[in-house]
Amino acid sequence: MNGNLLNKQKTIFSCQQCGLQSPKWLGKCPDCGAWNALVEETVTVTKKGGRTVPLRSESSPVRLAEVSATDEDRLHSGIEEFDRVLGGGVVPGSFTLIGGDPGIGKSTLLLQAAGGWTKAGTVLYVTAEESTRQVKLRAGRLDVAAQDLYLLAETSLEGVLEQVRQLKPAFLVIDSIQTVFTAALESAPGSVSQVRECAGRLMHLAKGEGVPTFIVGHVTKDGSIAGPRMLEHMVDTVLYFEGDAGHPYRILRAVKNRFGSTNEIGVFEMKDVGLSEVPNPSELFLAERPEEAAGSIVVPAMEGTRPILVELQALVSGTAFGNPRRTAMGIDSNRVSLLVAVLEKKVGYALLNQDIFVNVAGGVRLNEPAVDLGVLAALASSHLNRAVPKRTVLFGEIGLAGEVRAVSRPELRVREAARLGFDRCILSAGNLKTLDSPTGIELIGVRSAEESLGYLFD
Ligand code: TYD
Ligand code: MG
Repeated sequence: MNGNLLNKQKTIFSCQQCGLQSPKWLGKCPDCGAWNALVEETVTVTKKGGRTVPLRSESSPVRLAEVSATDEDRLHSGIEEFDRVLGGGVVPGSFTLIGGDPGIGKSTLLLQAAGGWTKAGTVLYVTAEESTRQVKLRAGRLDVAAQDLYLLAETSLEGVLEQVRQLKPAFLVIDSIQTVFTAALESAPGSVSQVRECAGRLMHLAKGEGVPTFIVGHVTKDGSIAGPRMLEHMVDTVLYFEGDAGHPYRILRAVKNRFGSTNEIGVFEMKDVGLSEVPNPSELFLAERPEEAAGSIVVPAMEGTRPILVELQALVSGTAFGNPRRTAMGIDSNRVSLLVAVLEKKVGYALLNQDIFVNVAGGVRLNEPAVDLGVLAALASSHLNRAVPKRTVLFGEIGLAGEVRAVSRPELRVREAARLGFDRCILSAGNLKTLDSPTGIELIGVRSAEESLGYLFD
């Protein structure tokens, strides 16, 4: 090597939330504002004398039309819910992060997927947390017995890269990114610099060799993936595996996807033989619905490309304190406030001294304005203490003037409601005009919030 290569040890403080580096300790990160997040790390600085500028770039411009890429290149795990969340299978060379609470089933999901991927090539599953014996026992329970599935219990990144070079797998799984470490850095495994460095080198591998790579990431108390925020920018796809540990249902959600739609969800049930797919989530989310109960209503929401019927509940009751409570779970509380204001001003309800709670059943999160009409109806139903007719669904966005606006994909929503035995759907007059084929369900077009409540409660 050349003589002016200097290695120097130095101490830096890096923010465990956003990765900011500072020469001195600070109580509050000036970048992301997190308190007490700066941790001391020792790094070895490699200094090269002078910068080397490549004389000739290795890649050259290509015409878009000449780039070969089709959807057929995608690789399937055979777990349909998983493939759909990825946008229709794994793209060669893609780099995916799966986050979730400990014990939610990330390792189980990836082991089951790995079993399916072996049909397309060799899979190297790096288990940096558990021994190969433990994984083998789990694989036995999951009935994964693939010949081309290799396990590697290794925490050193250099060791992993060496094995990848030798084995040349078609898929690589790293479980988890917080437990692998590189000898190039002195800081402890799981620290920001380690996670960033390891993820960076794995990304080069994924992109350079075209090996699709999945990394498991732990989640911090506040629900974000531990490690630098940068990790999320680095990867192509970020998936969250969510669910209540006391509940068998798990939701796999794409929050970032360079190769498909976000907000796509896959629903699974954790059984003693591993995760099984739930192809009909609407039935699941409606299973425990109390019929003829005031404040309960069903809305056809879109999750990615799929319509899902979800139960919305509202409770409106007189407050015992001067300041009424407004609580919303699974839905944006600002939208709920807006809808309460519309009910007051445009419909004439007196809600000022009422506590208001809105909840989406089944732990689903609804982010689209199409559920406005449903929330409004649930609030009205609870306030009037009158149940909504039990086979009725409704959807539509509500504006500040109390008008009901058209939303996207009305035909999919209506069809899903009809499939599950609902016989009446209240929607915006604008949406009604675009629906021409008979759907086997009575459609009622409305223009205003007040008009829709008239159909429900008169
Ligand atoms: P795991 O995949 O180890 O979670 P993570 O990798 O996200 O930490 O899942 C562990 C949990 O799943 C554990 O609490 C037991 C449960 N489980 C089952 O119920 N059935 C099964 O077949 C398996 C493998 C796990
Ligand atoms: Mg695990």
